[in-house]
Amino acid sequence: MQQTNTMIKLINGIELPHIGFGTYKTGANCVDAVREAVACGYRLIDTASVYGNEREVGEAVATCGTPREELIITTKAWRTQLGYDNVLRAFDQSMQKLKMDYADIYLLHWPARDYGVDRDSWRAMERLYDEGLVKAVGVSNYLTHHLENLLAVCNVPPMVDQLEFHPGYTQWDTVSFAQEHGICVEAWSPLARGRVNEDDLLVYLAEKYKVSIPTLCLSFACQCGIVPLPKSSDPSRIKHNLTVITLDEEDVKKILAMPQSGWSGEHPDLEPKKSVQVPD
Ligand SMILES: NC(=O)c1ccc[n+]([C@@H]2O[C@H](COP(=O)([O-])OP(=O)(O)OC[C@H]3O[C@@H](n4cnc5c(N)ncnc54)[C@H](OP(=O)(O)O)[C@@H]3O)[C@@H](O)[C@H]2O)c1
Repeated sequence: MQQTNTMIKLINGIELPHIGFGTYKTGANCVDAVREAVACGYRLIDTASVYGNEREVGEAVATCGTPREELIITTKAWRTQLGYDNVLRAFDQSMQKLKMDYADIYLLHWPARDYGVDRDSWRAMERLYDEGLVKAVGVSNYLTHHLENLLAVCNVPPMVDQLEFHPGYTQWDTVSFAQEHGICVEAWSPLARGRVNEDDLLVYLAEKYKVSIPTLCLSFACQCGIVPLPKSSDPSRIKHNLTVITLDEEDVKKILAMPQSGWSGEHPDLEPKKSVQVPD
């Protein structure tokens, strides 16, 4: 088990803070929310081309008063942007919207349903990394078999896998495989978007430690060596979500053993529920 507030080192030596800030659905509040997050102390900011908020994230970063080089900005190539040329083009478009000349972390947002496409996309990721345009490369929603496919052929290994992870949906097989191969796991929906707030075990543990359920969820992720990326548009919740505590190991095990329930419903090996395009 990991201490809850230690930095996490990627295999290429880049250090990530123990927690980052998610921006999906920050909507009209995006600029204010990201500025608030940086003011509160977040240094890792997560966006994606498909969120349609890279311009706002870029504006917030440029105007937040914290030097760009002190922030770790992640963005991602969407499902419609896979393949060698498409990934390179997607990266350029993201940099234009963010008004940045490099990304700290660039991820393939979802695996393709064809290993060959993933391999082509990954060659583009390696080129971006070799050219110094991206400080760390990784993937998101890659299960063990997708990671094995890349690890078998890559020159530069994936350094991050961003997965849905929260009490009630831990994808533990993939988490273990990734961690055993030196791939840092980040947690998306670490608060389960509030779905676990009534869970009996979590309510009991929140009372035991005298913390909120979100604090429990975030502490749980950190203690599993995972970097959670909570999203909030509310200044007090943005600040609140920086709090993590250390749970007894037995309690971490109990949360890991909760019945798996309440996930987003998206599985990387199935057709997407709806076809979503990257906004202009
Ligand atoms: N790679 C991927 O495929 C993928 C997919 C989904 C998300 N993500 C990333 O992961 C980030 C987080 O995931 P998410 O946005 O799906 O879900 P989440 O962080 O688990 O939950 C966000 C929801 O919880 C509420 N909330 C936040 N803090 C709270 C608190 N302290 N108390 C009560 N409610 C609170 C927020 O409302 P308020 O805003 O009103 O506080 C919002 O409705 C995203 O923003 C995105 O950056 C990645």
